[in-house]
Amino acid sequence: MSVIASEYPVMIAGTGSYLPERVMTNADLEKIVDTTDEWITSRTGIKARRIAAEGENTSDLATKAAENALSQAGIAAADIELIIVATISPDTITPATACYVQHKLGATQAIAFDISAACSGFLYAMKMAKRMISDGAYKNALIIGAEKLSAFVNWEDRNTCVLFGDGAGAAVLRRSEEGEGRILATEMGTDGAQTGILNIPGGGSACPTSSENVDQKLASLQMSGREVFKLAVNAMKNASEKVIERAGLTADDIKLVIPHQANLRIIDAIADRLTVPNEKVFVNLDKYGNTSAAAVAIALDEAHRSGRFERGDTIILVVFGAGLTWAASAIEW
Ligand code: UT7
Repeated sequence: MSVIASEYPVMIAGTGSYLPERVMTNADLEKIVDTTDEWITSRTGIKARRIAAEGENTSDLATKAAENALSQAGIAAADIELIIVATISPDTITPATACYVQHKLGATQAIAFDISAACSGFLYAMKMAKRMISDGAYKNALIIGAEKLSAFVNWEDRNTCVLFGDGAGAAVLRRSEEGEGRILATEMGTDGAQTGILNIPGGGSACPTSSENVDQKLASLQMSGREVFKLAVNAMKNASEKVIERAGLTADDIKLVIPHQANLRIIDAIADRLTVPNEKVFVNLDKYGNTSAAAVAIALDEAHRSGRFERGDTIILVVFGAGLTWAASAIEW
């Protein structure tokens, strides 16, 4: 006998974010590496980024973002049943950063684990949490993108250190009721043939940090920027188009596109190809740089809190990162 499972629709009930206090401007970077504000601004759009304090860990940033999301959703930590943290800069390799967050929040009923999908992690987490709610396993979930990338940046490498920053963004997902919004469709992809163009080569089991290699700073982000750039534009454009089509929408139905915040030139290229006007595309990378898994989550929260969309509007989130990985989601708010 076949059993047809009922699928519960899932909505985002609240968003939150947290940025560390310390601001590092392009002028500050000019004192550390051979770069200029002019180069960074014209090539990336980034003007500043936040840097976590010593002793302020990824789980601390994640917990603060989560508290803000819970408070907006009006859901108590005790009622959260699932916590997924997307990060490439975990507090420790094991246990998962989500376990520290579970304890710090007092979300004692929640199962908690991390996922590693780089800048795409928040949307990968959203897809997993949505599935686990829609099949009836859980009612309330917390997804968090959180990064302390300053701990994994080679501060002597101008190709990368000017790009990244620290921060966290979170969303509470729950079953949606009649008349409420819902996550309409998600499109995801991975190309494991491209692991070499954006990675942290050292510090894992393939290349543990040792006294012999410690000077090579292998446990830091490395990127072939130009290659990543081209693939990012194509992958994000294709994922956005697919998710718009699968949700039965046209570009005109979209109130706001919230893309991964890596480079303003990438964002402009995607907007052009999707024929979405610039005012319908959310940008905050000038303030925070690229915060990997946290970037789209922080942008979602800022766009939400500043009234860039409201109940009933349809938005598109689209991301791209190491792996290579990419994803897009269409959400009716
Ligand atoms: O979040 C995950 C996804 N990541 C991305 O999407 C990032 C994608 N890539 C990019 O955003 C861009 O490729 C970068 C911003 C990383 C680089 O911009 P670019 O226009 O591709 O520059 P480039 O790498 O081709 O470098 C151009 C020049 C080089 O000098 P030469 O070889 O032409 O003499 C670099 O050495 O700029 C030089 N350069 C710098 N100069 C001043 C590289 N970094 C810097 C710097 N300041 N910080």
